[in-house]
Amino acid sequence: MASTINPVPDFYIREIPIFGRIILAPMDGVSDLPFRSLARRLGSAISYTEFINAIDIVNGHPDLARRVQYAEFERPIAFQIFDDDPVRIVDAAQMLLAYQPDIIDVNLGCSAKCVTNRGAGAALLRDPRKIGEIFSNLTRSLPVPVTGKIRLGWDDTSLNYLEVARTIQDNGGSLVSVHGRTRVQGYTGSARWEPIREIKQALIIPVVANGDISAVSDIDNVFQLTGCDAVMIGRAALENPWLFSRLDRAEVRADTVQELMVEHLQASLAYYGDDRGIVLFRKYAKRLLQPYELPTEQMKNLLTLIDPNEFMNGLNLIFQQVRLAQQN
Ligand SMILES: Cc1cc2nc3c(=O)[nH]c(=O)nc-3n(C[C@H](O)[C@H](O)[C@H](O)COP(=O)(O)O)c2cc1C
Repeated sequence: MASTINPVPDFYIREIPIFGRIILAPMDGVSDLPFRSLARRLGSAISYTEFINAIDIVNGHPDLARRVQYAEFERPIAFQIFDDDPVRIVDAAQMLLAYQPDIIDVNLGCSAKCVTNRGAGAALLRDPRKIGEIFSNLTRSLPVPVTGKIRLGWDDTSLNYLEVARTIQDNGGSLVSVHGRTRVQGYTGSARWEPIREIKQALIIPVVANGDISAVSDIDNVFQLTGCDAVMIGRAALENPWLFSRLDRAEVRADTVQELMVEHLQASLAYYGDDRGIVLFRKYAKRLLQPYELPTEQMKNLLTLIDPNEFMNGLNLIFQQVRLAQQN
């Protein structure tokens, strides 16, 4: 008689079993339903939505329903929210429960001025007391686990990552993910992974390492260096979503890239409609085709097409050319 083998979870977010240790990072304008689904099928262990403004939630923004839409197979699904108001954020999170998320994640890392100027995102790192209040309020009033995504601090003179991570844990948070840069760094310089090891050693709850992971060797190095429960990959997933299957881009055949592009384009068209779907797909196409170093003019021609059929034909031609070049 065939026996059923139950896979063993790699770790838990409170009571939620997590299978896999590589996760697609939340990215505004990138980690939408079509891209998350693709990453999830390739091995990403959790789906995080793009961040959602708590003010938009309480005001019933018309785009809200789209931002919280997900496919069942994406579970566990984390809705990421941002706010600077410890009371409103609870109202917003409670409203989101209607969409049945598995996890609510709080953004404490966004460096964009439009977010930090109002004291939200990475600006909260300057006010650990408020972080405590936000997590205490959320964890006491929500049935689902609450997690936080942080940076190392505001700037190099205020590297308060240990205090912030402990505050999240002490106020009921169930996981901390850490982008190894400060707010002032933005995306410049390199991510520092050593502080993430300190956080992992200081906490009981799971810790996820993030920042500048762009190859399988980086994944291995980060695990070895930090002892983290999982790694989170952002920008590099655009050029190589196969990282979630532990493949470097050079290992991925052109046929596989083409199949994925066609599948992703179709999903984007179905989700957004033809006009918007093709425009929004361009940024993914550009990054996926980048390794082939196509002539600028050819890329421009492809990426300005607005008819999906013409785009598919253009893609076919490009891949014929790529395969020919690879045979020679
Ligand atoms: C276009 C873009 C949008 C992002 N949007 C979000 C977001 O909505 N929420 C968030 O927590 N982080 C956001 N981030 C930060 C990423 O999640 C991640 O922490 C950062 O890019 C560092 O990881 P990486 O080096 O793997 O890209 C965004 C990053 C980029 C590049």
